[in-house]
Amino acid sequence: MELQHHVPLAPLTTFELGGPARAMCTVTSETALREAIALKMPMFVLGGGSNLVVSDRGFDGLVVRIGSRGIRVHDDDCVEVEAGEPWDDFVASMVERGLTGVECLSGIPGLVGATPIQNVGAYGQEVAQTIVRVRSVDVATGEVRERTPEECGFRYRHSGFKAWNEVVTRVTFRLSRSAPVLRYAELQRALPGAPALREVRDTVIKLRRSKSMVIDPHDDNRRSAGSFFTNPIVAAAKADEIAASFPDMPRFADDAGVKLSAGWLIERAGMAKGTRRGNVGISSKHALALVHHGGGSALELLALAREVVAAVHAKFGVTLRPEPVLLGFTSDETRGVLP
Ligand code: EPU
Repeated sequence: MELQHHVPLAPLTTFELGGPARAMCTVTSETALREAIALKMPMFVLGGGSNLVVSDRGFDGLVVRIGSRGIRVHDDDCVEVEAGEPWDDFVASMVERGLTGVECLSGIPGLVGATPIQNVGAYGQEVAQTIVRVRSVDVATGEVRERTPEECGFRYRHSGFKAWNEVVTRVTFRLSRSAPVLRYAELQRALPGAPALREVRDTVIKLRRSKSMVIDPHDDNRRSAGSFFTNPIVAAAKADEIAASFPDMPRFADDAGVKLSAGWLIERAGMAKGTRRGNVGISSKHALALVHHGGGSALELLALAREVVAAVHAKFGVTLRPEPVLLGFTSDETRGVLP
């Protein structure tokens, strides 16, 4: 295992922000991962860098990149995928094979191993619906764990992996040969009738592109982490209270309460699409995405995030929570951004 020193992290993140890592290595097997763990340095696992904000000072520890590759199909519809596979290549190859279950998750950046951690979801699907097993290595002991979906503690944009000190090394999905089912109203409107798998993939990518949620080198909104905040889930009484003053507020039933639309709240709190604050701003295509326009700093981005959180809280009494991982910041720097 080869160690590199003082490696700039900004080019490895979609925000293109942040300082260097003290050291970095790429692991392609669980054995190599255990060797990295044995160095006993503070460790951070970097996937596609598409859900990450790195502090301007960088990270004073070891950044481990996951380079394991491989997709194996068993019994026609059970698919074992190594953590380092790019997520969208995996989705494309499943659509190609006629396997249903992840097509609505087309066009999402990042690596397969990251998807169970925040239970990645879009357009009516989330990975918790198709995952049957997650394999991980415990960073404290080096032991391998295999978990069923129930044991992973999946919820909206959440799983137990956020708290466990483990590295996901393999994810197994159970897909199917049945026709795709569309559950997201916007997608149903775009694809009436009984669409083929490939049409679903193409349409999802088109919708994502219209919201600058596909990384495209020609898009001015490209330096982002997709949604910067999760959609807040509030008690029904709170949602009713807001709806009394804002009858057009979008609301969605959720197991844990009522899910509100963070993008809508942000716009109605006065933070319009296209707002600029120096070198950062709000995407001109989607109020939920913060973007870096180049030449900016991670602190500028956090200042904007703080302003958005404060505006939404002042107007609606709802606290937004950031979706990306914030790496290398002090608690002073994340005050007003993290709860
Ligand atoms: N809306 C606004 N203004 C905006 C954007 C949205 O008012 O600028 C309102 C509209 O009423 C719209 C509703 O919000 O109908 C929902 O918007 P959208 O369909 O774009 O979905 P979202 O809730 O904003 C979530 C995910 C996205 C995912 C889409 C589609 C979260 C945090 N975000 O966004 O995921 O692609 O649904 O399923 O749950 C990501 O996590 O990075 C991400 C891009």
